[in-house]
Amino acid sequence: MSDHAAVPPVPPASVVLVSGGSRGLGLAIVTDLLDRGLRVAAFARTVTPQLAKLAEAQPDRAYAGAVDVTDLSATQAFLREVEERLGPVDGLVNNAAVGQDSLHAHTATADVARIVSTNLTAPLQLTRLVVRRMLGRGLRGRIVNVTSICAQRGFPGLVAYSATKGGMDAATRSLARELGGRMLVNAVAPGFFASEMSAVLGPTQLDQIVRRTPTGHLTEPEEVVPVVRMLLCEQTNINGQVIVVDGAASV
Ligand SMILES: NC(=O)c1ccc[n+]([C@@H]2O[C@H](COP(=O)([O-])OP(=O)(O)OC[C@H]3O[C@@H](n4cnc5c(N)ncnc54)[C@H](OP(=O)(O)O)[C@@H]3O)[C@@H](O)[C@H]2O)c1
Repeated sequence: MSDHAAVPPVPPASVVLVSGGSRGLGLAIVTDLLDRGLRVAAFARTVTPQLAKLAEAQPDRAYAGAVDVTDLSATQAFLREVEERLGPVDGLVNNAAVGQDSLHAHTATADVARIVSTNLTAPLQLTRLVVRRMLGRGLRGRIVNVTSICAQRGFPGLVAYSATKGGMDAATRSLARELGGRMLVNAVAPGFFASEMSAVLGPTQLDQIVRRTPTGHLTEPEEVVPVVRMLLCEQTNINGQVIVVDGAASV
């Protein structure tokens, strides 16, 4: 006999908060969710013209703000504003992160701390805030953590970064169990894709990655977006999983 009583399926998210939605993968996720008719709030330390344009074009469905994810009280205030404008948040995409391009022995103490606080502590805190509000309202919802193939395979120059992404993968599994089916909690782990974060990779490193990839090209943000959308919107029983999107480069 099962230890768990059956719970009805978690409905699709309707109001989604995307951290780091100003450019790169985050902006692609925001654009896609708005195109599909969801209400979407996004923040980053700087609101780019592209994100501002999206928010201005549809003020009843989109909202953007300049918030540092490591500033817990600013994040909490933004979440309240979002709920006043768009309604209760029932979807969260933890996408904001900072990269790294330094050997561990040469990474400054302050940089290790910044990477851990942005990529691990902050999403854990934001998730806690969102989950508390959802549980308080009796809402069910979806959480998607954007992690990285670096959590599963070793890459020089990315030690602290990889540790944070592995931490989020582990948190994904435990939160999925802890929430007992009231929310679906998953992670998407992309391979390398072109963005401001990966601009530090030189042509030799990029060539090497492409050569190791059976599909013969670097992952595109547009190839990751449908997986995020599925985890937020489709009725599935996927819970506590890390879905790799890297063209089998890591297989
Ligand atoms: N690019 C890759 O090859 C790759 C591969 C695997 C996984 N990923 C993951 O995919 C996600 C998106 O990466 P990306 O390549 O699209 O990166 P990106 O272009 O550098 O975008 C990162 C986003 O996060 C925001 N951000 C960074 N620090 C923040 C902070 N303290 N507070 C609020 N927002 C912050 C940035 O805006 P501001 O700087 O204005 O704050 C930006 O909107 C990340 O989780 C990354 O780890 C990337």
